[in-house]
Amino acid sequence: MSQDVLAIVLAAGQGSRMKSNTPKVLHKLAGQPLLGHVLSTIESMKTCKTAVIVGNQAELVSAYVEADFGDAELYTQREQLGTGDAVLAASKAIKQAQDAGMSHAMVLYGDCPLIKAESLKAAIRTIEGDVALAVLGFETSTPTGYGRLLVENGELVAIREEKDASDEERKVTLCNSGIMVFALENMLEILRAIDCQNAQGEYYLTDAVEIARQKGKQVIALTVDESETFGVNDRAQLAHLENLWQERKRHEVMISGVTLIAPQSVWFSYDTEIGRDALIEPNVYFGTGVSIGAEATILAHCHIEGTDVAKFSTIGPFARLRPGTKIDEGGKVGNFCELKNAHIEKGAKINHLSYIGDAFVGTKANVGAGTITCNYDGMNKHHTNIGAGSFIGSNSALVAPINIGAGAYVGSGSTVTDDVPDNALAIARGRQINKDGRAEDIRARNLAQKQKRQAEK
Ligand code: UD1
Ligand code: CA
Repeated sequence: MSQDVLAIVLAAGQGSRMKSNTPKVLHKLAGQPLLGHVLSTIESMKTCKTAVIVGNQAELVSAYVEADFGDAELYTQREQLGTGDAVLAASKAIKQAQDAGMSHAMVLYGDCPLIKAESLKAAIRTIEGDVALAVLGFETSTPTGYGRLLVENGELVAIREEKDASDEERKVTLCNSGIMVFALENMLEILRAIDCQNAQGEYYLTDAVEIARQKGKQVIALTVDESETFGVNDRAQLAHLENLWQERKRHEVMISGVTLIAPQSVWFSYDTEIGRDALIEPNVYFGTGVSIGAEATILAHCHIEGTDVAKFSTIGPFARLRPGTKIDEGGKVGNFCELKNAHIEKGAKINHLSYIGDAFVGTKANVGAGTITCNYDGMNKHHTNIGAGSFIGSNSALVAPINIGAGAYVGSGSTVTDDVPDNALAIARGRQINKDGRAEDIRARNLAQKQKRQAEK
């Protein structure tokens, strides 16, 4: 049914209130540009055609769409003449969709990322028979600034913009989200009839309602929750939407079988995947590109991005896992460890205070407290291989490129600069010498110095 919907996404706006060099629709929510959220929702509906209208900073917005949503078509609105004009920028796509026998077109906004696919599908379902247009509205206690939906006898008769509304019309609290679904059949005809005779001198998409009715068609208003319709105009609104998004995601994650002890303190990205029966302690941040396996435990205060953690693993507390990290089944990474681009094989342990970067740690290896892979020479990064079953003594520095053989042993406090063969013991530190009674001499000398200083005062 939704196979034949054309989605038109308006992303031409300027977003000057963001006070940013980045186009508004590319500001991120949960690690993904606002526009990406909308395009992902459309993708999830298996819509066969998407048109994105760009305008301001079109090059940047187009580059993002081409990279992440290659199937979407790009159209340019040269001047910001209003929402009605913006949709007409895609008139070629509308015509083609019509010719291809598609039935519906929906209009969405690149800066309204929380709209749900179910709401769009509900609107699509209302288009049949004489119904030419469905509008998504919402009830709000703060209607100022929005277009008002004027409903008579259950039919939507007009949308009145705030600036054109009478005092009576301004009292209406049912508002226009901007999101609409058209029957493709009459869409171009309706859009082309829109003029700019109004308080703002703009081509209002909202005029489509009255035009459709003049053509003897019916228009339907559907109500969705206000939160689905929120748009972003400034950074405060962006943060507010981030909060709403996180709340949704936390709920979804818990319902899917993950325990969050303090959900309000866990932050997810748009693509975070967490397996069933995983346990997430308080204050954990998931950057983009993270998957956590079933029954894994993420202890408090971890920062994790670009990492795959396999099932039954335990991470943290206070661990930082950076991009390119892969922890195999049952892995253990303990407190104050930083890992980057590191593959930790099954049963290997890195329990305390380590930096492991550009490294491979073989199965059942034990990396002692304070082990550092010295992976950077100031210009280039080098690889460290820590063999299966090896034991790296505490406070060792492994200077890459280096290979520690399987089953090898590195004495604590070593600075290892040469490869260690399998099953060898490497000790690379000053040899210990004990000088009998020498501590007493040192104490006596220090005491004498202290007494001399006090006498001089
Ligand atoms: C619009 C609606 C209003 C609704 C509100 C919801 C119209 C005439 N009014 O008002 O009824 O309550 O949204 O937020 O449609 N855009 C373009 N090109 C343009 C003009 C706008 O791409 O020429 C894009 C903007 O970037 C933005 C969206 O369309 O994403 C809405 O435009 P905006 O000017 O913010 O509309 P509002 O005045 O808020
Ligand atoms: Ca406007």
